[in-house]
Amino acid sequence: MSLENTVIPEHVAVILDGNGRWAKKHKVPRAMGHKAGCETLERMVRIASDAGIKYFTVYGFSTENWKRSVEEVGALMQLLRFYMVRLLKIASANNVRVKMIGEKTRFAPDIIKGIDDLVEGTKDNTGMTFVIAINYGGRDEIVRAARRLVNDYRESGKDADSIDEAEFASCLDTAELPDPDLLIRTSGELRLSNYLLWQLAYTEFYVTDCLWPDFNKDELEKAIAAYNKRERRFGGRV
Ligand code: IPE
Ligand code: IPE
Ligand code: MG
Repeated sequence: MSLENTVIPEHVAVILDGNGRWAKKHKVPRAMGHKAGCETLERMVRIASDAGIKYFTVYGFSTENWKRSVEEVGALMQLLRFYMVRLLKIASANNVRVKMIGEKTRFAPDIIKGIDDLVEGTKDNTGMTFVIAINYGGRDEIVRAARRLVNDYRESGKDADSIDEAEFASCLDTAELPDPDLLIRTSGELRLSNYLLWQLAYTEFYVTDCLWPDFNKDELEKAIAAYNKRERRFGGRV
C-alpha cells in the first residue's frame, strides 16, 4: 500500500491497546508486552513523521491505569524512565517536538524530570509534534480546566457568562493543538476509555484487531486509507 494520492490526516490520535493480550499470546509476562509496545511506539514516531502527520497523540497511561497491580504499574514506570531518555534521542534525530498531556505531579521526581527534559530538549524542533498522554484522563483534564477558569475568573472579577468554547479549550492540556482528525484504537475495543473526551467530538474512528506491539507502517496506511473514504460533515449538510 502507498500513501500517494491520499489525504494525510493532520492530527492522528492513538489508543495503544493490547500489550497484555500480545504478551499472553506469546506466553511471556505482561511487562514484556509493554516493552514490545514501547519498541513499537519508538518505530511509529518515525513512521508517522515520515508519513507527513503533523500531530501524533498517543495514550500511554490513563488516570485509571493506577488501579493495576503494583507489579504492573512498577514495570510501566520503569519503562517510562527508560523510554523518556530514548525518545529524546529519537525525537531530536527526527526534528520531532514532544509535548505531554495529563497530570504529571503524581509521578516520581525522576520521571517528572525525564518528562521535562524531553519537552524542553525538543521544544524548538519544527517537524511533527508527538504528544504523549500519561496519567491522562479526559474527565480529569476537563475538571482541571474548569478549576483554572474558576480561579482566573475569581481573581479578575470577569463575568462567567462570557466563557465560550474557545476559552474553555484554551484551558485544556491540548490548548495549542488542533482537534484530532483520526482516532486509531488497536486491539478491537469499541470504547474511548476516557481519552480526549472534549477533543474527539468530530474525529473519525478507526478500530483494528491488530495488537499494539504488532502495529506497523502497513497498519497505519490501512487506517489512513479508511480515513480517506470517510465523508466528514461536522453536523452540516454536503
Ligand atoms: C495497553 O495495553 C497499554 C496500557 C494501558 C498501559 P494493555 O495493558 O491495556 O493490554 P490489554 O488490554 O490487557 O491487552
Ligand atoms: C486505555 O487502555 C488506556 C491506554 C491505552 C493507556 P485500557 O486497556 O486501560 O482501557 P480499558 O480498561 O480496556 O477500557
Ligand atoms: Mg487494555
